[in-house]
Amino acid sequence: MKRDSTTQILLVATLLCVVCSVIVASTTVGLRRRQLENKRLDQKKNVLLAADLIQEGEVVSQKSIDELFSQKIQRVLIDLKTGQKADPDTVDPETYDQRAAATDPNQSKLIKPAVDLGRIKRREKFAFVYKVLDSDGTVDQLVLPIYGKGLWSTLYGFLALARDGTTVRGITFYEHGETAGLGAEVDNPKWKAIWPGKQIFDENGDIRLKVIKGSVSPASPNVKFQVDGISGATITSKGVSQLVRYWLGPDGFGPFLKHFHQQQDQQTDA
Ligand SMILES: Cc1cc2nc3c(=O)[nH]c(=O)nc-3n(C[C@H](O)[C@H](O)[C@H](O)COP(=O)(O)O)c2cc1C
Repeated sequence: MKRDSTTQILLVATLLCVVCSVIVASTTVGLRRRQLENKRLDQKKNVLLAADLIQEGEVVSQKSIDELFSQKIQRVLIDLKTGQKADPDTVDPETYDQRAAATDPNQSKLIKPAVDLGRIKRREKFAFVYKVLDSDGTVDQLVLPIYGKGLWSTLYGFLALARDGTTVRGITFYEHGETAGLGAEVDNPKWKAIWPGKQIFDENGDIRLKVIKGSVSPASPNVKFQVDGISGATITSKGVSQLVRYWLGPDGFGPFLKHFHQQQDQQTDA
C-alpha cells in the first residue's frame, strides 16, 4: 500500500481516532472516582461551614475535614413525606445520590405550582439531614440541604438551625450561577453574618423568616424574622427567601422538624 494512498490516510486517521478515544475515555473513568471523592469532601466542608465548625477562608486539610465530620456530624437519610428516618430496605443511604434523585421521576415527586416557592418543579422523596453533635452526643444543630432558583441559576446550599429547630445558626451556598457582585453576594461573609440568630417560626409555628427588599429597620417588630436583601440583587434575594421558606415548610423538612421539636420537648420534660 502506498504511504500517501487514500486507504493509508483513512487507516491512520481511524487508528488515531481510536487511540485518542481510548485515552480520553480511560482518563475520564480514572478521574471520575477522584471527582466523586472531591464532591463528597466539598459537601462535608460546606456542612461544617454552615454549622460554623470551620471558618470561611480557613485552610483545612482533607484529613481534618474527614475527622471533624466523623466526630461531629451524624448524617441521617429521611423520608421527606413522613419526616422519619428512611427505611434502609427501601433506600440505601450509602449509595443514595440525592442530587440525581431530585430529577429522577421514580425517585422524586412533582411539586404543585402553588407551593413551589423554590421554583424547582420536582423534589426528591428522600433527603439527608446532618445532625451536629455535642461531646455528650446530644444534637446541637441541624444542617439541612436547600436549593432553589435565583435569577440565573439554581442555588444549592445548607441552612444550619440551632437545637430549638427555629433559630438560624448559619447559611452557605456552595453552587450557583448568579452574577458576581450582584446575586453572587449570597457568598459574601458579611451578608451571611446577618443570618445567625434569626428566627424561622413564630409562636404559632408559622414560617416568618424572610429576606426583605432593602435593610431591616432595627426598630421593626419583625427584626428577628427578617434578613436584609442584597442591593441590586432583589431577584436572587427573593429566590433565597422563597427557597428557604419552601424547604422549611410542609412540603420540605416541615414534617421532620415537627418530629424533631417533639423529641426535643420530650427530652426537656424528662
Ligand atoms: C448583567 C446583569 C446581571 C444581573 N445579575 C443579577 C443577579 O445575579 N441577581 C439579581 O437579583 N439581579 C441581577 N441583576 C439585576 C436584575 O436584573 C434586577 O434589576 C435586580 O434584581 C433588581 O434589584 P434591585 O431592586 O435591588 O435593584 C442583573 C442585571 C444585569 C444587567
